[in-house]
Amino acid sequence: MSNTMSTQKEIEKRRTFGIISHPDAGKTTLTEKLLLFGGAIQSAGAVKNNKIKKAATSDFMEIEKQRGISVATSVMAFNYLDKQINILDTPGHKDFAEDTYRTLTAVDSVIMVIDCANGVEAQTERLMEVCRMRDTPVIVFINKMDREGQDAFDLLDEIEEKLAIKVKPMSWPIGIGETFKGVYNMHRKNLNLFDANKTAIERDIIKIDSLENKDLNDIIGEEDANLLRDEVELIDGVYGEYDSEKYLSGKLAPIFFGSALNNFGVQELLESFLEISPTPKGRETDLRKIEPEENKFSGFVFKIHANIDPKHRDRIAFLRIVSGKFERNKFYKHIRLDKKLKFPNPTSFMASTKEVVDEAYPGDVIGLYDSGNFKIGDTLTEGENFRFKGIPSFSPELFKEIQNDNPMKTKQLEKGVAQLTDEGVAQLFTMQPGNRKVIGTVGELQFEVIQYRLEHEYGASCSFTPKNFFKACWMTCDDQSKIDDFIRRKVGNVGFDKDLNPVFLAPSTFLLAQAESDYPEIVFHKNSEFKLDD
Ligand code: G4P
Repeated sequence: MSNTMSTQKEIEKRRTFGIISHPDAGKTTLTEKLLLFGGAIQSAGAVKNNKIKKAATSDFMEIEKQRGISVATSVMAFNYLDKQINILDTPGHKDFAEDTYRTLTAVDSVIMVIDCANGVEAQTERLMEVCRMRDTPVIVFINKMDREGQDAFDLLDEIEEKLAIKVKPMSWPIGIGETFKGVYNMHRKNLNLFDANKTAIERDIIKIDSLENKDLNDIIGEEDANLLRDEVELIDGVYGEYDSEKYLSGKLAPIFFGSALNNFGVQELLESFLEISPTPKGRETDLRKIEPEENKFSGFVFKIHANIDPKHRDRIAFLRIVSGKFERNKFYKHIRLDKKLKFPNPTSFMASTKEVVDEAYPGDVIGLYDSGNFKIGDTLTEGENFRFKGIPSFSPELFKEIQNDNPMKTKQLEKGVAQLTDEGVAQLFTMQPGNRKVIGTVGELQFEVIQYRLEHEYGASCSFTPKNFFKACWMTCDDQSKIDDFIRRKVGNVGFDKDLNPVFLAPSTFLLAQAESDYPEIVFHKNSEFKLDD
C-alpha cells in the first residue's frame, strides 16, 4: 500500500469529538459509558473524579487534584469496531469556559447532552454559539429519560428555538420517568426496551419491520403502541428525512434519547455517531485551507498543561494534527518562533495510559513535552509558513490588578504570570503608567488558581484588586492616529495584550457604546480573532 493510501485509511478511521453540556446534565456519566464500550476503562467511576466539585471554589488542594486528573482525561482515545475515537474533554465548570471554547477548535463534531427535565440551559446556549462559529456538527443526546421530564415534542421545540438549529429525532421515547419503556429507533427500525434493573451493556433489541405489526401491542401494550404509531407518523411529517449534508454543515442536529446512568441508548448513540459523524476536517490558515489529505504534516496547539509536580517545570502542549503524518524525532517548524524543533517523546492518550508514539495522523491529539516554547494557538509545520486561525482569546469578564506582595520575588512573579497566561489560564493586560498588570478571566476560580500556583510553582506571592471593567475589546483602525488619540484620552481604560495590541477595557455597556459612537472609525472587537484576518 502506498504511503498516501495508508494515511488516507488512517484519516477515515478517526473520529475526534467533544462532549458538551450544562453542568449536571450527564456529560461525565456519558463519557464514562462510552469509554466502557471501548474497553478504555474497566469500571464505572473512573472518569467521575474529574469533576470539579460545585463547592470547591476555595479548596486549593481540590484544584490541584483536578489538574492532575484532568491531564489524564484531557484526551481519551480508544478503538471501537474499526474506528479510532478521540474524545476531547471539556471542563464543565463555567469558570473554565474559555478552556472549553479552545478545545472545541480541535474537534470535528460534538455530542451535546441535555437533561430532559431542565431542557436547554444557559451553558448549553453558550456552547452552541461556539459550535456555530465554525459550523461544528452537533448530535443531541437527551438524557435522564428514567426521570420525570418535559414532553419530548416540547423539548424539540425548545432546542430549535433556543439553539437556533433544526432537529431530526433519530429515536423516539416511549413514556418518560416512571412510565419510560424504552426508545424506538426510527433510523434502524428497532425497539430498545428499558429495564431499570438491567444495567448490562448488551440489551435486547427487538427488530420491528413495521410499526403496524401487532406484536408491538404485546410488547409495550396497546395504548403505548398506538401512541407511538401516532407520534412517529407526526414526526415523519414534521421533521422529514434525515439530511446528512445539513448535519455535516452544522444546520441540523440529530436527536437521541436515553439514560446515561442506566447505560441506556448509549451504544445506539455511539454506533449511530460512528455512522454519521465527520472524519477529520481541514482547518483555515492565514494562507489557505489545509486539508487532512495533504502530504506534509501540520498541526496546532490548543491547550497547555503545566506539570503538577512543581519541581519539574516542563509542560505538556496538546497538539491537534491537521494534515499529513506526524513522526517522532523529525524536525518541524515552530512558526511563531521561526525555529526547528523535534520531539523525542510525543505521547498518545490511548486507553487512558500515556505512551510514546512514533507516528500520528490527522484528527489525533498528541502531547508534546515543552519547556516553554509553546503558547496556545501555535502552529507546527513541515516547513511551510502559515498559521492556523481560530483560536481566539475571548473577552474576559472579570478583571483584577495584580500586586506583588514580595519585592524580593519580582522576577519570579513576572515569569509566573507570563507562563500562566501562555497556558491560557487567564489573559494579561499591561496598563500605563507604571506597567501595571491587569489579569482578565472568565471566572473567579482562575484568580485562586493563579495565586496558588504563583506561590507553589514560582515562590511568588501576590494579591488582587478588583477593577471595574466589564469587557476587553481589541481595537483596530486603518488610521493609527485615531487609536493613538483614543489611548491618550482614555489612558485609564486602555491595556496592551501580550502581543502589544491595544485593548479598550470598557467599564460598562453604556461607555462602550459611547466609545463606539465617538470613534466610529475604530473597530472594537469582542475577541482576538481579528489578529489573523490581515
Ligand atoms: P456532568 O458531567 O454533566 O456535570 O454530569 P454527571 O455525569 O456528573 O451527572 C450529574 C448527575 O446526574 C449525577 O448525579 C449522575 O449520576 C446523574 N445522572 C447522569 N445520567 C443520568 C440518568 O440517565 N438518569 C439519572 N436519573 N441520573 C443521571 P449526582 O448525584 O450529582 O452525582 P453522583 O453522586 O451520582 O456522582
